[in-house]
Amino acid sequence: MEENILTNRQGHPVTNNQQIRSVGKRGPATLENYDFIEKISHFDRERVPERVVHARGAGAHGYFEAYGTVGNEPIAKYTRAKLFQTKGKKTPVFVRFSTVIHGGHSPETLRDPRGFAVKFYTEDGNWDLVGNNLKIFFIRDAMKFPDMIHAFKPDPVTNRQDAERFFDFCAASPESFHMVTLVYSPWGIPANYRMMQGSGVNTYKWVNEQGKAMLIKYHWEPKQGIRNLTQQQAQDIQGKNFNHATQDLFDAIEKGDYPEWELFVQMMEDGEHPELDFDPLDDTKLWPEEKFPWLAVGKMTLNKNPDDYFTEVEQVAFGTGVLVDGLDFSDDKMLQERTFSYSDTQRYRVGANYLQLPINAPKKHVATNQRGGQMQIKVDHHENPHINYEPSLLGRLKEARQSGTEYTPYIEGNLVRAPIDRTNDTKQAGETYRKFEKWEQDDLILNLTTDLAKCESVIQETMIRYAEEADADYGRRLRENLQNTDSTGPLGNAQNDEAVEQAINESKETDH
Ligand code: HEM
Repeated sequence: MEENILTNRQGHPVTNNQQIRSVGKRGPATLENYDFIEKISHFDRERVPERVVHARGAGAHGYFEAYGTVGNEPIAKYTRAKLFQTKGKKTPVFVRFSTVIHGGHSPETLRDPRGFAVKFYTEDGNWDLVGNNLKIFFIRDAMKFPDMIHAFKPDPVTNRQDAERFFDFCAASPESFHMVTLVYSPWGIPANYRMMQGSGVNTYKWVNEQGKAMLIKYHWEPKQGIRNLTQQQAQDIQGKNFNHATQDLFDAIEKGDYPEWELFVQMMEDGEHPELDFDPLDDTKLWPEEKFPWLAVGKMTLNKNPDDYFTEVEQVAFGTGVLVDGLDFSDDKMLQERTFSYSDTQRYRVGANYLQLPINAPKKHVATNQRGGQMQIKVDHHENPHINYEPSLLGRLKEARQSGTEYTPYIEGNLVRAPIDRTNDTKQAGETYRKFEKWEQDDLILNLTTDLAKCESVIQETMIRYAEEADADYGRRLRENLQNTDSTGPLGNAQNDEAVEQAINESKETDH
């Protein structure tokens, strides 16, 4: 059969895929070995730069099904985004889950937030909801993001992640304390991707037909339930399988056990809300559920594994700027800072024409005047290919009509470099601590103690002070545990160091 015949990339049949051409059986080789040179030079280029963060990931296809309502009200009252309007309306999606800090093949058991990025291929073009499993973040200004990531990633000299560098940054950044409390609890190691929540974290807006906007937070709730691991459970899994989350997702979908998440929103009138003790645009804060209830708007089902990991999961490109009509940015400056970073890195990581790849291209008609660049694989639909500009009296591409009343918020203020008001850095961390179950509190204290034991006392004292400010019991337990712990710590890396040393001492020496 013709299609079973191995060819090179020029379509030439390959008659010998085992040996190159050489002078005699033993060589030397000659340079005209076209098939070999093509094969090896393509292999030499198989990698693209990995994501600067969220390098390790797993993905799946599925669909989102709208409820047509938000709470008990028709959703049209708040947003005109078409994908949400009609009950039962289905929109295809691609989801990529990820860990954040380590490289492309790092264990999936590490303590780290998890990425939860969803691309909706809507009839109005793509919408990306680029979220994490946790609902808040370490910092509230992306000016600090490169420093934060440098501190969390391996040391530039030893190439090892170092708890002291992590806590040095966090101690000097009190806004991170709530996130640290979550990440060092079992919530920092979700059991797998299917049984974790997702959240947009940053504040967006919805815009309705009349051009009125509301502030919005998005949350995904797994129908499979939520499961998190203690440090010990994660270590036990890691000794046996460091790809367990990727495997769990793939196997579940393969056997027809399709994971589902319900999408909820929290809504708030736009504005500064002086009655709250935090700024609604501060992404280190939760919006209290009692005041801002979770309202269901739809459900997502993942029902198809990728056909090819690289083409889909590696090359997919999500960005916070990718919104459709009826969805908008809020003034959340982190959101705007993120919006620049995503497509900037993707032009470098995947290439200038990354939006032409099937996984990133909208599943609708695309018609731009953007031409050229590396790897242009098609010219976007154009009835008059000579007119790659607009306006034109000859060309056919015209601007679209504004749908609904345009949303035109009025903004004024001095240009400043200043932190957001109402920082209140530790209060919500205390509330979160008190909501934890006893085993979660115990694991949090153990994990913090283990890693803080490796830090200078100025860092320890600062972190204990934040814990004391958050909750008296939290602070007392952390201080007592640290005082009773020597620098090797009861668990985690320090214990691993000893275990590794012991294993090497017990191993047998061989001569050859
Ligand atoms: C990935 C920047 C905060 C969620 C990335 C990437 C960059 C980046 C450059 C790599 C993208 C790629 O190569 O395709 C930033 C900056 C932030 C920030 C500058 C500002 C502090 C956040 C926050 C969240 C988040 C708060 C959670 C809501 C993600 C996810 C991915 C990602 C899920 C992986 C997307 C994928 O699976 O391809 N981020 N990020 N990031 N970021 Fe952020």
